[in-house]
Amino acid sequence: MARRLIIECVVFLYTIIVQCFHVIKSLFLPLKKNVRNEIVLITGAGSGLGRLMALRFASLGSTVVCVDINTQANESTANQIKSEDGKAFAFTCDCSSREDIYRVAEDIKASVGDVTILVNNAGIVSGKKFMELSDIMINQTFAVNTMAHFWTVRAFLPSMITKNHGHIVSIASSAGLVGISNLTDYCSSKFAAVGFHESLQLELASLGKHGINTTLICPYIINTGMFDGAKSKFSRLLPILDPIKTVDQMMDCILRNGNVLIIPKILCFLLLLKSFLPQKSFVTMSEFFGASSCMNEFKGRPKKKLIKMNDRFLKSNTACV
Ligand SMILES: NC(=O)c1ccc[n+]([C@@H]2O[C@H](COP(=O)([O-])OP(=O)(O)OC[C@H]3O[C@@H](n4cnc5c(N)ncnc54)[C@H](O)[C@@H]3O)[C@@H](O)[C@H]2O)c1
Repeated sequence: MARRLIIECVVFLYTIIVQCFHVIKSLFLPLKKNVRNEIVLITGAGSGLGRLMALRFASLGSTVVCVDINTQANESTANQIKSEDGKAFAFTCDCSSREDIYRVAEDIKASVGDVTILVNNAGIVSGKKFMELSDIMINQTFAVNTMAHFWTVRAFLPSMITKNHGHIVSIASSAGLVGISNLTDYCSSKFAAVGFHESLQLELASLGKHGINTTLICPYIINTGMFDGAKSKFSRLLPILDPIKTVDQMMDCILRNGNVLIIPKILCFLLLLKSFLPQKSFVTMSEFFGASSCMNEFKGRPKKKLIKMNDRFLKSNTACV
C-alpha cells in the first residue's frame, strides 16, 4: 500500500514537472494548431467577441458556423466572412432554449457537418441589484450563460468523442472567479461555467480522450458595449480591455490548446490574495479594488446600438486579421 502511494506520488510530481516544462516551452515556441479544416461553431457570433472570433477563425481557413438569436447581426457576420472568400453559415438560435439548441444542432450536423471546435460565447448581463432582478431575468441569465453550455456540448461532443478530436471553448469571465456587486446572477452563472469547464476537462481526461481540448477564458471588463457604464477603479492597474487585443490573446490561447486564460494577468495575483487572506478581508479587499462599486453606473448596451457597434467591428477587424 505504502509502496503504491510512493510510486503514485513520484509519477504525480514527474507529470507536473513535465507539464510545467511544456507550458514554459510553449511560451517561447510559436506552436499553434492548424484550424484550416475545422468546423468552428461560435454562439453569440453576431456581436462583440463572438463576431471577432468568427472573423479570425474564417481568416485561418476554418468553416465557421455563426449562431445567434439576432438574425440580422448574425447574418452580417457570416456575410462579412463570405465577402472575404471565407466559409460561413448562419443559424438563428435562442441559446436560452434547450429545444432550440437541439433543433439547430441537428440542422447544422445535416447541412454543414460535425462541429470540431465549439465556442460557447453567447452571454447576457442584467447588471441590477439582487432584489431588483426579476425571477425571469435570473432564469434567463443562467439559461444563456450556463445551461446553453450543457446543451451545446451534449449536442456536439458525441462526434468529438468518436473521433477523439475536438475543442470546447468556454467564454466565462473574471466575474466567474470573484464575486461582484450588482452581478449576483451574472457571477453565479459564470462561476457555474467555470465549474462546468473544470469538471468536463477532468471527465474527458479520465475517459482518455486526450484529443479533445478544453479552454476556459476569463476576461475582465471589455469595451464591447455589453458592460457600458461599468468603471474600473484603478484604470492603470486594471484597464477596461480592448476587444481586438483581447481576441488576439484568446485566439493565441485557443490555437495553443491553452487550458485557462485570465485577462489581464494581474487578476491572477488578486485571486491569489483572495485565496490566502482571511475570509474577513474579502469585503475590504473587494471594496479597495472596486468590485463593490464598478457596476454603480452600469447602463449596458441599448439594443439599438448593436448594429452600429457591429459596423465599428467590421471596420476595425479589417486591420486586425
Ligand atoms: N464584454 C465584457 O466586458 C465581458 C467580460 C467578460 C466576459 N464576457 C463574456 O464574453 C462573451 C461575449 O461578450 P460580448 O462582450 O461580446 O457580448 P455582446 O453582447 O457583444 O455579444 C453577445 C452576443 O450573444 C448573443 N446572444 C445573447 N443572448 C442570446 C441567446 N439567447 N441566444 C443566442 N445568442 C444570444 C447576442 O445577440 C450577441 O450577439 C459573453 O459570454 C460575456 O459574458 C464579456
